[in-house]
Parts: sequence; structure tokens; C-alpha cells
Amino acid sequence: MDKHNPDDERAAIPSPEAAMMKALGSMIFPLAVKAALALEMLPILEEGKHAGTPALATRLGVDAGALGRLLTSLAALGVLRREGERYRVTPFGATLLPGPRSMLPLARYLLDDSVLLPLAKLSTCVQSGQPTLPQNPRTGWYNQYPERARLMDGAMAVYSGLGLPALLEAYDFSSYATLIDVGGGIGHVLAGILARYPNASGTLYDMQATTERAVRYLAEHGLQGRYAVAAGDMLKTVPAGAGLYILSKVLNNWDDEHCVRILRNIRVAMEEDARLIVIEGVIADADYAAEDAFRDLLLLACSHGGRLRTVEELRGLGGEAGLTMLRVIPTSTAFSVLEFKPGTRPR
Ligand SMILES: C[S@@+](CC[C@H](N)C(=O)[O-])C[C@H]1O[C@@H](n2cnc3c(N)ncnc32)[C@H](O)[C@@H]1O
Repeated sequence: MDKHNPDDERAAIPSPEAAMMKALGSMIFPLAVKAALALEMLPILEEGKHAGTPALATRLGVDAGALGRLLTSLAALGVLRREGERYRVTPFGATLLPGPRSMLPLARYLLDDSVLLPLAKLSTCVQSGQPTLPQNPRTGWYNQYPERARLMDGAMAVYSGLGLPALLEAYDFSSYATLIDVGGGIGHVLAGILARYPNASGTLYDMQATTERAVRYLAEHGLQGRYAVAAGDMLKTVPAGAGLYILSKVLNNWDDEHCVRILRNIRVAMEEDARLIVIEGVIADADYAAEDAFRDLLLLACSHGGRLRTVEELRGLGGEAGLTMLRVIPTSTAFSVLEFKPGTRPR
């Protein structure tokens, strides 16, 4: 193509209708992946131990014709590639195979009906301003939907795995001997920090069911004697005694009222020389990047009044809880580190 020919250039730009058709059709990607995961076919295809589609259909106990259409579609979407009579997993598709850097736990969470079905009713959320996931206004959904909370642990592992090197690069934890990770999940962030700072020790604080999983996760990380696990409700109380409190990917799951309650409980627990870091994706202003739209609408439909916030909004919530924001440290990922010190004690 002659790149200076305006006719060619016009032909290369899709019409608004074609662009819309493509955008609407792109919804099939997550749904086709969901089907592939439900049928547990990717590990079998990766092994290459199947003699074509009919044999694979027999092994999976599914309809061969329909399976052929799914395989062809997954190849068109870049997840598989065809090799003669067989399909193999591409490097892109291989990110969904189990393994240390796997995206599979994130896919399992995002493609679970407990996330997809509320998102499908987004207009209801916009009408009411409430999530469509029925939930207890006092506790949020975590205790009500234990299976979803377990899937969320996996999703957090993926985010934390990707974000941890950037966090350790951005923030110097060396002046803190004791850490408490509030709503710390199963301990990915805490384990990563303790591994880098051998003189530090830390407490993971989360709900009972999550701490049971945290005990197992932390035990696998060679941190013996340097961590404790405490179960409790951060909406009621937070343990005292840390030089540094960590609140990672927690506030964006809650409405302002609950955020202030969590921050206030941390403030009450803090000595005057303690610090809090909030690790959170922040938005610059009213304009979203496309990834922000995804995350914010996900929070609208599925969380307890949670949302993406600007630095100023988080500074305001901290202020209401008696915390003064000291600095904002961007990282090379979507997450920033917002550091707070105790300010005026809240009433
Ligand atoms: C989005 S996850 C973040 C996990 C972890 N901080 C990370 O960055 O990977 C939110 C965490 O808050 C915890 N959580 C929710 N409600 C809680 C409560 N009332 N008290 C303590 N933890 C709670 C959940 O169990 C979950 O582990």
C-alpha cells in the first residue's frame, strides 16, 4: 500500500459501524476462554496427547462438532494454533495454564458467574447506585460468598505477583521492623516484603476464613518465626504495635463510609511515629484509561460500594480518619503507594 495515498488510508480506517461490530463481538473472547477452562482442555492440548478433535471430544465427554467449533474459535482468538489435525496452546494461551506466573487464577475469578452475572446487570446498578450482588451492608460480601472470596485470593495473587517487584522498587521498607498487613489476603504482599527485608517481621490480619488459607500459604515461604497470622474484622478493630501498617488493594472495594471506618481503626491502633501505606490504583481525574473503566465498573457491580478514587479523594478519607497524607509514590504498575502519618486523632 502506498502510505501517502489518501484513498488507501481511508480504506485502512474501519468505519464506526465496523469498529462497533468488532467491539461488540469482542465479548466472545472471555466467554470462549470460560468454556475452555470449564472443560479443562488447555492442559490436554498443551501435552499434545490427543489424536485430533474426535479423540479429544471422547476424552472430555463432549459433542465433537461443537468442540470443533470452540477449538476453531479459540484459534481465531489467538489462544490455540492449529497443527494439522491437532490444536496446540499458543504462548498467549499458555498464560492460562497452571504454573508460577499463571494468569489462570485471575481468569477463574473474573469469569466466575459471581462476577459475570452482576456485570450483566450493570444498568440496574446505575439506576440504584448499588451493586447487584446481594450483600450484607454491614460486612460486605466476603463472609457471604466464601467460594468467591477464595477465587479472589487467586486473583490477588496474580495482581500481587505482577505488582510486587514494582512495589519493592518504589518503597523503602528498611526502617520498619514490624509490619501489619490489614486485609492482607493470604499473604502475597507480606511474604514478598519479608523475603526482601530479612530483619523485618509482620502480622497478616484478615477474616477467619482467609487467615486459614494464609497460614498454609505463609508456611510455604521459608519465613519461620518472622510472621504471625491474626483473624479479625478490620471494620471493628485493628491490632496495635506495628511500625508500618499496610492496606493493599482494600479501600477500592468499599464505599467512603466503610473506608473511613477501616482507616480510623488503623489510626486508633497506630503509635504517633507509625506510618500507613495504602497501595491502590488511583485515577488522575475524571478521564479514565480503558483499563480504569473495566476496573471501576467491576467495582460498581461487584463490590461493597467500592470505586476507583483520585489522590485527593483518598487524602480526604484519610483526613476524616485522623491521618495526614505525606506523599504519593507512583510505581511502574497501575498501583501507587500513598503514605500517611497519624494526624489529629479522630473523634
Ligand atoms: C482485594 S483483597 C486484597 C488482599 C491483599 N491485601 C492483596 O493486596 O493482595 C481484600 C481483602 O480484604 C479482606 N477483608 C474483607 N473484609 C474484611 C474484614 N471485615 N476484616 C478483615 N479483612 C477483610 C478480604 O478477605 C481480602 O483478603
